[in-house]
Amino acid sequence: EKMRVAIVEGDGIGREVIPAAVEVLDVFGLPIEKVPLELGYGKWEKCGIAIDDNDLDVLKSCDCVLFGAITTPPDPNYKSVLLTIRKELDMYANIRPIKPLPGVTGVIGRSDFDFVIVRENTEGMYSSIEEFHEDVSYTKRVVSRKGSERIARTACKIAKERHNDLTIVHKSNVLKSDNMFLNTCREVAESENVGHRDMLVDAMAYSLMTYPERYDVVVTTNLFGDILSDMSAALVGSLGLAPSANIGDKYAFFEPVHGSGPDIAGKGIANPIAAILSMKMMLEWMGRQKEADIVEEAVGRCITENITTPDLGGAASTIEVGRAIANHVREM
Ligand code: NAI
Ligand code: MG
Repeated sequence: EKMRVAIVEGDGIGREVIPAAVEVLDVFGLPIEKVPLELGYGKWEKCGIAIDDNDLDVLKSCDCVLFGAITTPPDPNYKSVLLTIRKELDMYANIRPIKPLPGVTGVIGRSDFDFVIVRENTEGMYSSIEEFHEDVSYTKRVVSRKGSERIARTACKIAKERHNDLTIVHKSNVLKSDNMFLNTCREVAESENVGHRDMLVDAMAYSLMTYPERYDVVVTTNLFGDILSDMSAALVGSLGLAPSANIGDKYAFFEPVHGSGPDIAGKGIANPIAAILSMKMMLEWMGRQKEADIVEEAVGRCITENITTPDLGGAASTIEVGRAIANHVREM
């Protein structure tokens, strides 16, 4: 029973960081079948479509995806590949661990925090229910009980594996649709015996930058989660360090938080650590906690030895960092 993993490098630095992550993964020699798939702007330029039905079938035939990044084509009619995949495979939870790495300090110079942002990934402001008129445009914000309940369950499951402390982030004082989200999350947390509190999103933005050590698991709606998780990546230090997972009931998708990095693409200097830590989250999802811990330890050793890309102040290339981490894994 080999796991089938779709490998989607995508565009730009996705083509540099994913091979590095695969090199590290390969060291373990696990029973994994890799299924390479081309999607994104490169494909769009060649074929006029960034993802087709056949690609979706291939994705669905796999257990999960390791994904780099794709450039958003300049065409206003372009339908987002990521939104398509998330919807089609119903991956409703976006999970971003925010954890410092040894020897790296982010914008506030601290390393005493360790929390996870769990973002609802299918509704909220990203419903795609929109209307455009000459002088006004509308976007409908969707908050359903089912959507809120399943994201709350995911967050509670993660909280129970950690410190059993959930923070529900919302703006229900202004957005009345958030009462559904807040109340549902509270009910689920109560029924699961998970300690919980709630925060308004604006206060939360301030608090995460000031008291990040207070938080364990943070659950929120789509847009708030998008913003808070990018902001939180600044606590860690570089976009090149931030991994993420998109998880549904059956399927999962692992990708670095960063995009295709057009300003550095092709130079061989992209930091592969975000991609490697995303691969580590994939190992955890597969139940390979031991291998996941080894990857994390190897990443820490590589940074401690100052084998880093320019975003962390080093002079190493993507390939050198990937190889150093793979070698540490081999030695452990
Ligand atoms: P970006 O994340 O690609 O780049 C932002 C800045 O961070 C750039 O200066 C870049 O050089 C730097 N950076 C990003 N990843 C890095 C890494 N691994 N190592 C070192 N430096 C790194 O975001 P940007 O420029 O806003 O978007 C570029 C393209 O990527 C756009 O077409 C955008 O739509 C797409 N994008 C795709 C995403 C995805 O596929 N999930 C996510 C975000 C953006
Ligand atoms: Mg984002």
